[in-house]
Amino acid sequence: MRGIRKLEHIDCSLSLFKSRKEQLQSSEVRFIPRELPECNLTDVDISTAVTENWTWEKFLYLNASTGGTAATFPILHELAEVAASHQMAIAVGSQTAMIAEQTQRCYRDLRMRHPGLCMIANAPASVSVNDLKGMVDSLQADMLQIHLNLAQEAIMVEGDRDFENYIANIASCTAALEIPIIIKGVGCGIARETLQKINHINYVIVDVAGSTGINFADVENVRRANKILGIENWGLTSYESLLEAKQFLGDKRKIFASGGIYTSSSAMKCIALGATAVGIITPILNYIIEKRYHDLDKYLLKYFEDSETILRMLGCQNLSQIQQVALLITGSLKEYSQLRNIDILKYANR
Ligand SMILES: Cc1cc2nc3c(=O)[nH]c(=O)nc-3n(C[C@H](O)[C@H](O)[C@H](O)COP(=O)(O)O)c2cc1C
Repeated sequence: MRGIRKLEHIDCSLSLFKSRKEQLQSSEVRFIPRELPECNLTDVDISTAVTENWTWEKFLYLNASTGGTAATFPILHELAEVAASHQMAIAVGSQTAMIAEQTQRCYRDLRMRHPGLCMIANAPASVSVNDLKGMVDSLQADMLQIHLNLAQEAIMVEGDRDFENYIANIASCTAALEIPIIIKGVGCGIARETLQKINHINYVIVDVAGSTGINFADVENVRRANKILGIENWGLTSYESLLEAKQFLGDKRKIFASGGIYTSSSAMKCIALGATAVGIITPILNYIIEKRYHDLDKYLLKYFEDSETILRMLGCQNLSQIQQVALLITGSLKEYSQLRNIDILKYANR
């Protein structure tokens, strides 16, 4: 059952990906040009310091998608190969199926093949501390994503209905583990109200996973025989959620941007708005399922090269410098910011 559901998730995500219209609001975020940097821009650095122990060579990481069931491990192995060959970190998909199907060995095998790769475990907020330890141990995970997926569960006919004690559970899991915890959405964004509720918990990073990429409320609605009308793109866009998280968290925690960040220019805008790293998955999964490996390599190399070029265009040698460049936020994002009391003048005049 789980294996079938995981394969359906891939099918539905890829059909949504192929039919999607661009909604990312990138044209509403504009850089103010800087013409005289007075520095040598031959080498620019797109690495990023993520935690005390991890500096990623590339700011782009492969986000959670698959694994857990025997049916999806071959895809996870291919994703890990891609991550390793491009020096990227990788998050595995939800490991709850590991407990039901006893697939711990598959995760051990993945780790043995890639001893130096930064691997991120993934579990829902409902998982018990014991199961979570098993998930992290089998992968020897370097970090852990705990995903928040209320809308997904609610839409899923067979989804969870009891959401009591999630906050206390996240707190216990965070206290019991020694690796950095990432609180992650699943394509509906994360709002300030949610962050407020977990502010006392010792997580390190939030991954906003906004609605402008693959949105798991949409994915589950596609799977339903009896669809709910009018809930397309449920939640906050990736830029809205990023602006909101940055305003609330400041520099107290790191923020990862994800959800439809499929171009270098949108990624550089997210970094400029305060993201430490950028997650991507559906386009990569699409290349793998279509076995277009050469196109996949070309896509990632172009993503990195174009990011370097944009840094040069702004006179920046590294990602921290782009966070000092002035940014204009206009249109629907400006309206959103005003309604949510987000100070965007500080970006325009820094
Ligand atoms: C097939 C598929 C399965 C996914 N499974 C998970 C999961 O198990 N756990 C999770 O946190 N996110 C999961 N996601 C959500 C992604 O990590 C990500 O938040 C979302 O796809 C938006 O990013 P994108 O636009 O780059 O695809 C999945 C995404 C896809 C496409």
